[in-house]
Amino acid sequence: MSRNKTGGLAGVVAGRTEICTVGKEGAGLTYRGYDIGDLVDNACFEEVAYLLHHGRLPGARELAAYREKLASLRALPGALRQTLEAIPADTHPMDVMRTGCSVLGNLEPEGDFAAQRDVADRLLAAFPSIVMYWHRFHADGKRIETATDDDSVAGHFLHMLHDAPPGELHRRTLDISLILYAEHEFNASTFTARVTAATLSDFHSAITGAIGALRGPLHGGANEAAMELIERFDSPQAAAIGVREMLARRELIMGFGHRVYTRSDPRNSVNKRMSKRLAEEAGDDRLYRVSEAIEQVMWDEKKLFANADFYSASMYHFMGIPTYLFTPIFVCSRITGWSAHVFEQRADNKLIRPAAEYTGPRLQTWAPLSARV
Ligand code: COA
Repeated sequence: MSRNKTGGLAGVVAGRTEICTVGKEGAGLTYRGYDIGDLVDNACFEEVAYLLHHGRLPGARELAAYREKLASLRALPGALRQTLEAIPADTHPMDVMRTGCSVLGNLEPEGDFAAQRDVADRLLAAFPSIVMYWHRFHADGKRIETATDDDSVAGHFLHMLHDAPPGELHRRTLDISLILYAEHEFNASTFTARVTAATLSDFHSAITGAIGALRGPLHGGANEAAMELIERFDSPQAAAIGVREMLARRELIMGFGHRVYTRSDPRNSVNKRMSKRLAEEAGDDRLYRVSEAIEQVMWDEKKLFANADFYSASMYHFMGIPTYLFTPIFVCSRITGWSAHVFEQRADNKLIRPAAEYTGPRLQTWAPLSARV
């Protein structure tokens, strides 16, 4: 794979935001001024979603009403369920989510931008239903009821997956993971959403494009690629040897490195702790230790640290979540950040249309067809 060392808009300030800081001196990762550590220790995901959307924490009554509203928006229209049933079983679920979002935009078009908060809430509530309805229909031949009465997004997701409400350890672990993935400033998918919103296009188009950007292994798809890597090795020793060989072949190790963070990803220590806890619960003696071995080699050989996608892979695995559903979980969370950015873009909009440095041929003389070889 060839990589452009100077491009990719690295370090370019492409706009202003009040939503999030990533790796800023003295601030680290913050949502609306709250440190990610405080949010993980104290908040639930719905509180964080509200914070991102409204710019302030909800009061107790507002939070209860918000949970109720989200729970009331989980049912899918018949036409969308039919579409999900028609999508082939071997489709990647990220493509299912992209289609699901777009179809919802046909069935429930945004219309007036004044309704944008309702569209954001509908997508937040419906994304777990979309991916899980498709998954259960094709994996188990079941038409599941997506309108469960779970009081959290995490509980709703795991309930539909396993046909039973989850235990508190798994529910809260996924809840924290959703908090960690919720927002990350001008990453590729968020920027995609903002570029689309800046043309005054509709909400569903902005989010559909963002899902497409998140799908790639250099962005959200890294958690699935990381799991595939970890599962390849039988022991920490085999992992250390295998990863050194991959590095010698100049292969990318998914789940490591970051465009903005230079020393560590603040989300990683939380994920690592949760993965360890679930490994103990599952009696796992391999995957967690293999993960640690890979992390050590990456540090020793390249001074590269694990990002948010590395330990979330084994963590999801220990909860019985199939690997191909890992990146869709990212969507179920990041829809909150994307929505906040669409609101912000629309509130002070300017078409996003940068310039390019031209490197093509000089002006050419037109040759008629008869004169060409
Ligand atoms: N494995 C192996 N080498 C890596 C690496 C990785 N995961 N990430 C970066 N590097 C190396 C590159 O090969 C490059 O080395 P070189 O200068 O000898 O060519 C150097 O580190 C700089 O990497 P570069 O790709 O230019 O950095 P970037 O800022 O453009 O890329 C990422 C950032 C995240 C895209 C990159 O680290 C990556 O591809 N990581 C794996 C995918 C991933 O985990 N994505 C999720 C991000 S949250």
